[in-house]
Amino acid sequence: MNQKVLVTGGTGYIGSHTIIDLIENGYEVVCVDNGSNSDTSSLAAVKDITGIDVPYYHLDLCELDGVKRIFTEHPDIKGVIHFAALKAVGESVEQPIRYFRNNLDSLINILDVATQNHVEALIFSSSCTVYGDVTHSPVTEETPLQEAASPYGRTKQMGEQMITDSLKNSSVKSILLRYFNPAGAHASAKLGESPVNPAQNLVPVITETAIGKRKEMTVFGDDYPTRDGSAIRDYIHVVDLAHAHTLALRYIFEGKQQVSTDVFNVGIGNGLSVLEIIHAFESQTGEKLNYKVGPRRAGDIMAIYSDYSKAKNLLGWEPKLDVNDIMHSAWAWEKERTGRQIQ
Ligand SMILES: NC(=O)c1ccc[n+]([C@@H]2O[C@H](COP(=O)([O-])OP(=O)(O)OC[C@H]3O[C@@H](n4cnc5c(N)ncnc54)[C@H](O)[C@@H]3O)[C@@H](O)[C@H]2O)c1
Repeated sequence: MNQKVLVTGGTGYIGSHTIIDLIENGYEVVCVDNGSNSDTSSLAAVKDITGIDVPYYHLDLCELDGVKRIFTEHPDIKGVIHFAALKAVGESVEQPIRYFRNNLDSLINILDVATQNHVEALIFSSSCTVYGDVTHSPVTEETPLQEAASPYGRTKQMGEQMITDSLKNSSVKSILLRYFNPAGAHASAKLGESPVNPAQNLVPVITETAIGKRKEMTVFGDDYPTRDGSAIRDYIHVVDLAHAHTLALRYIFEGKQQVSTDVFNVGIGNGLSVLEIIHAFESQTGEKLNYKVGPRRAGDIMAIYSDYSKAKNLLGWEPKLDVNDIMHSAWAWEKERTGRQIQ
């Protein structure tokens, strides 16, 4: 029998790509989302790509009774991948309480229910934002965490601590995956980043500008002490990132994890500046981007990129796709979804 995995935030960007990877690797998936930043069109794409109709719960994970109901109806869930969260850094600076309530209440409920049932593995979407305003990259999992630069980053730091403390004396093992900057889309162009709320991440903002949904885009700051003045990040293809979740689950299911909670960086291992990403898009697609330079954005840091050797050594994970794959797939997806919206 296939092992059953609950994917929270599963209609969202990374969750839906991960559902495909899980199905392709023989797992049975149950999905839950409250639709606050996605809709079920992603599950239609999952069905189109994999042939599987994933059971879906439309509910808010901050409601404990709803979370309990999922486990009553699926008592054989062995793994939980917890993606559900609000994730806009700037918005979290303006609405900290909403971020703390949503991201922490939902996690507490997941921990509560996972420890009361027969869950063996919990994988948590953490973020490189937990490292705060680092002075040096690449960062390893040993790099000391600095003060979080935003309430969003703080919810990830607190989430990591809550998981570590809550599972110390339980049979549930957990992996905290610290993602760097996920970007790109599924190779089929049937699935990609399509947030309900205005996109905040760089690559969808680029493709939306190129296709004319936005008149222009802003580069937030060109006065950072970097090689071209713009901020530097580590862009990891969402399909590679999705596979890291499957490998993390397998690592726990196969009994390879000795510690209660472990943590892994998931990035490509080098940094590209915002202006370099813009130029990569222009050169890969032949499109010209209308962008302007604006002031720095609250909560943003200057530069960060990963050392992912721990994930490589223990999970056997390595990125296979690069920035050109990100640009091609994101652009193909943008043209596909815009075509659908026009019809
Ligand atoms: N995309 C990134 O740049 C990035 C980087 C680092 C970490 N992460 C983390 O990865 C996870 C997934 O991110 P994503 O990019 O796929 O975002 P996303 O917004 O596409 O997906 C998150 C999903 O969670 C759902 N959700 C939010 N609160 C919920 C609640 N209370 N109950 C049920 N569903 C809820 C949303 O509707 C959404 O579909 C998040 O935890 C995010 O913080 C994302």
